[in-house]
Amino acid sequence: MATVAAGVGAHPDYDRAKELKEFDDTKAGVRGLVESGVAKIPRIFITAPEDRPKPFSGAPSALQVPVIDLQALDDASRRKEIVKEVCEASKTWGFFQVVNHGIPTGVLEDMLEGGRRFHEQEKEERAKFYSREPTKKVRYASNYDLFKSRAANWRDTLSCFFDDMLDTGDIPSVCREVMLNYRKQILDVADVVSQLLSEALGLSPDFLKNIDYGREQLLHAHYYPPCPEPEQTFGTSKHADPTFITMLLQDNLDGLQVLHRNNWVDVSPMHGALVVNIGGLLQLVSNDMFKSVEHRVLVSREGPRLSVALFFYPSFREQKLYGPIKELLSDENPPKYRELLVQDYVSYHLSKGLTGESILDHFKLGCQK
Ligand code: OGA
Ligand code: NI
Repeated sequence: MATVAAGVGAHPDYDRAKELKEFDDTKAGVRGLVESGVAKIPRIFITAPEDRPKPFSGAPSALQVPVIDLQALDDASRRKEIVKEVCEASKTWGFFQVVNHGIPTGVLEDMLEGGRRFHEQEKEERAKFYSREPTKKVRYASNYDLFKSRAANWRDTLSCFFDDMLDTGDIPSVCREVMLNYRKQILDVADVVSQLLSEALGLSPDFLKNIDYGREQLLHAHYYPPCPEPEQTFGTSKHADPTFITMLLQDNLDGLQVLHRNNWVDVSPMHGALVVNIGGLLQLVSNDMFKSVEHRVLVSREGPRLSVALFFYPSFREQKLYGPIKELLSDENPPKYRELLVQDYVSYHLSKGLTGESILDHFKLGCQK
């Protein structure tokens, strides 16, 4: 019987666990494979045929992820319109792009360049950061769920966990300054977005901030090398983020797609824009008013593609319960979820890996799973 451990397209003598370990032991990531000149992707990356991306139809999609202009937020009537746009986008797409958010384009470009410098330095240098040790705040690895997923993704990631205990000196010097500056500026935009989301829920502007939507943040600087067989694998398998909100910066290469009414729609790169998406925790506290939507990343022969995700979470150490916001509940809108601790929710997510299984369902009231 083909087991998950044996992997997809298992050959009787295919020892998947061994090949995963050999790959991990190189500490050089997918970029290391490309550097060594592979013409075919190793089988640990091959996705089951039923999960593969459909060939591109060639017909441009009429659907487009909403783009929201944040200029003139101080104008009361314009603000009302923006809140409406944010509300609509969060209910129907779970994704939107923001422009005129106030961060200079140079800061965004510098962040992407910093990510590139890290991932493209000599492999001995990157290897110093390669780790799966959960207590490490700064680490580099290929596929955080490498040993759990059915097929590995064509992607490497440098991650940094921003909490009160982070020693910023641990961040690789090739990108330290740009990363700290980027994060600082994104926090301001996230606060503005959190106010708009609060207002869109009919709450006071500071509501989400007061429940600590983003006290701690995880930064992922992703690197998707060019792939010799892009039909056979994914850059990131389909998943929904387990965050409150995610702010994503992407370079100018296509690849990111969001599931909308059963269509995979491109989140087309827009110079200077930031992508915002609703995470599972916000879907939960909004009692399903806002949607945390599945998305994925395709790879191509072109590349590398770079992106930087900043995931916003409440504190992982606080014993604070999160459940549907009381102010939103009524006889017509009874709570759909039980209350939970953020660490339980995230551990459950990590135990599942990027399998595409719904994490939220597990916390639905009346669910026995
Ligand atoms: C993620 C994600 C998209 C991208 O990191 O959760 O969805 O474009 N990233 O890298
Ligand atoms: Ni994501």
